[in-house]
Amino acid sequence: MTVVVLPGDGIGPEVMREALRALERVAPELELEEHAFGAQAIRDTGDSLPDETLAACKASEAVLKGPIGDPEFDAAEVRPEQGMLRLRAELDVYANLRPSEHGHVNILIVRELVGGLYFGAKGVREDGTVFDTMEYHPDQVERIARRAFELARGRRKRVVSVDKANVLETSRMWRRVVTEVAADYGDVDLEHMLVDNAAMQFVLETDGFDVVLTENMFGDILSDLAASLTGGIGLAPSASLSDSGPGLFEPVHGSAPDIAGKGVANPMAMMLSTALMLEHGLGRADEAERLRTAVWNTYWELRDPERTSAFGDAVLKELS
Ligand code: NAD
Ligand code: IPM
Ligand code: MN
Repeated sequence: MTVVVLPGDGIGPEVMREALRALERVAPELELEEHAFGAQAIRDTGDSLPDETLAACKASEAVLKGPIGDPEFDAAEVRPEQGMLRLRAELDVYANLRPSEHGHVNILIVRELVGGLYFGAKGVREDGTVFDTMEYHPDQVERIARRAFELARGRRKRVVSVDKANVLETSRMWRRVVTEVAADYGDVDLEHMLVDNAAMQFVLETDGFDVVLTENMFGDILSDLAASLTGGIGLAPSASLSDSGPGLFEPVHGSAPDIAGKGVANPMAMMLSTALMLEHGLGRADEAERLRTAVWNTYWELRDPERTSAFGDAVLKELS
């Protein structure tokens, strides 16, 4: 089984290093193949997702990715984020699972990942107006909704679908399609919630949520919010899945340029993303559980270790 490793930018290589040490311990027979991606790939090749990297990802069993992004490219025409969106689209990993667990809070955000505002028509008109458009086809909504209901069946059987149906056409269609899909899942409770209210309820009624189903942009914003309510962004992993073909596993957080190079980034999100890869990407639930347990034990023991490597050392000790 080949896993493509994309260490990424900023704190990416720092947290990836610890995740790989742990992965090699729990699944030593996996073949890990590192490829260029992100800001460094732009410097080296002019493209954040070089052809050979994309081909390797497509041929792999799973892709383990560190965060990308570098302030050097903030105003540039070619940006690391473009390659990342292209990778998600090329792999068609439309189902982005972002779990946040802490104490009695256990939220799973199911974020549509390859449509909406990120991928709709965009451009500049003659008069200088700049536009991005939110576009969804009903089929795109149906497939992510089915995923959310399926996942809810294995949990507390509650789906909150988040939209802006009081304003957006895409949201009104979203709500209609989600309601239709819900008819096939009579055992799962469905509630629709407007996104502004959802942001407030996340803070006020955090433990009332189970599965949160939402479109790309809303899911991006709500997942940082959920992370901050349940231990912090340094703990938040994600799994992005297609219907067939390799999944993409990466932390919710970014390259954290403010702390990059200091050796103080929390590697937990990267390690928990690795556990999600073992479970959802490689069908190795036992190894996933072993890694997850070691990571959480380390967390409860050390809380906020000062160094990235100290956390990694402690996880290895748990695993030995
Ligand atoms: P960020 O998530 O990188 O950082 C936000 C804050 O959280 C910073 O203060 C940072 O120090 C802190 N933080 C993040 N991860 C941490 C960790 N593991 N341990 C400790 N602290 C952590 O968000 P940003 O600053 O808005 O974005 C920086 C760059 O990352 C941008 O270029 C952005 O596009 C990119 N980004 C990439 C991804 C990805 O590759 N999936 C995700 C989000 C942002
Ligand atoms: C995330 C990130 C990305 C997103 C950016 C870097 C394009 O914020 O994975 O949450 O918005 O999807
Ligand atoms: Mn984000």
